[in-house]
Amino acid sequence: MERFKALLDELKCTGKLSGEGWLYLLSRPADSFRNAAASLAEKITIERFGNKIFVRGIVEFSNFCSNDCYYCGIRCSNKKTERYRLEEKEILECCSAGYEYGFRTFVLQSGEDAFWNPERLAVLVKKIKARFPECAVTLSVGELERPQYQQLFDAGCDRYLLRHESASPEHYAMIHPERQKWSSRMKCLQDLKEIGFQTGCGFMVGSPGQTLEHLVCDMEFLSSFKPHMIGIGPFIPHCDTPYAKEKSGSVELTLLLLSLCRIMLPDVLLPATTALGTLLPDGRELGIRAGANVVMPNISPAECREKYSLYNNKNSADPGSTGVLQSGLQKKLAAIGREIVIARGDYGEKIC
Ligand code: 5AD
Repeated sequence: MERFKALLDELKCTGKLSGEGWLYLLSRPADSFRNAAASLAEKITIERFGNKIFVRGIVEFSNFCSNDCYYCGIRCSNKKTERYRLEEKEILECCSAGYEYGFRTFVLQSGEDAFWNPERLAVLVKKIKARFPECAVTLSVGELERPQYQQLFDAGCDRYLLRHESASPEHYAMIHPERQKWSSRMKCLQDLKEIGFQTGCGFMVGSPGQTLEHLVCDMEFLSSFKPHMIGIGPFIPHCDTPYAKEKSGSVELTLLLLSLCRIMLPDVLLPATTALGTLLPDGRELGIRAGANVVMPNISPAECREKYSLYNNKNSADPGSTGVLQSGLQKKLAAIGREIVIARGDYGEKIC
C-alpha cells in the first residue's frame, strides 16, 4: 500500500508516471487499493467542482455506420440492426425537450453516416446554436478530414468526442478491420485539439486482447495528449458481433482507471459512462464516487434507443420528463451528497 500511495502522489504532483509505475497501479484493482485511489480522486473532484455534477443530453441521431469495429453492435456487417436516422426537425425537437428538462449541453452522436455529412451537420449545429445560444453542442460522429472538422467548429460546435479506442497500434489493429487505421484516429484527435474543440478521447476496459500493458499505453497517451474529456467504460459483448462470446470488462478496473484519470488530470470532464451503469445498477454512482463528474442521459426519442445498441442491455439514464433537477438521477446523486447543476459545464469553468 505504501508504494501504491507514493505512486498516486507522484501522479498527482507530476501528471505522469513511468511504465513500471503504471503497471504497478493497474495490477491492483483489489478493493483496498482501488478505494485508496477513489478517495483521493473524490477529494480532488470536490476541490475542483464542489458537489456539482454536470449533465449532457445525448441524441443518438443515426445508427447507420460505415465502420466495422469488431466490438460494436452497429458495425456495418451487422445485418440484424434495424437502421434509423433522425431528420433535422426531429433532432431539434430532442434539443427543445432537452432544454426544457434542464440540459445545457447537447451531445449529437451517430455512426459514420454518409447522409449526415459535414455540410448538413454544420447547418444543424448553426440552427441549434441560434435557437439555444447559451448551450454547448458536442459532436461525436467519427473520423473526418481536418477541413471538415474546421467547418463544424466554424459552425459553432464547441466540443468533439472521438474515443481513441486503444493507444497501442497493435491492439487497435486487433479490434478493428485493416482499413480502420490507428494512425488516422490519432491524427483526427490532434486535428480536433489544434482546431480548438474541447476534445474527448477514451477507450473500453477489457476489450478482447487487451492487456495491462495496453492500458499502460492508454494512460501514457492520456498523460501526454491531455484531453478535456475522457470516456472510459467496460467492454460489454453484443450478441451479433464477432465478440458475442467474450467476457465483459471489469467494473473494478474501470473504476480504478477513472480515479487515476482524475488524479492525473484534475480538471478533466469525466463521465460515469452508460456502460458502467449497464453492468451494475449503481455503476454510475460508483463512477462518481471514484472521481467522475459528468452524467450523460439519453434524450433520443424512445423508439430509437433500443436500435442504438452498441452492446447488449445498454441501459440509458432516464432524464425524467419533469426536468433533471426532479429526476430519479438527481435523487440517486443526492444520496451520495452530489447534485446536478444546470450549466454548460465547459472545461476549466470555475464553479466553486
Ligand atoms: N462495449 C462497450 N463499449 C462499446 N463501444 C462500442 N461498442 C462497445 C461495446 N461492445 C464504445 C466505443 C465507442 C463508443 C461510442 O462506445 O468505445 O467509441
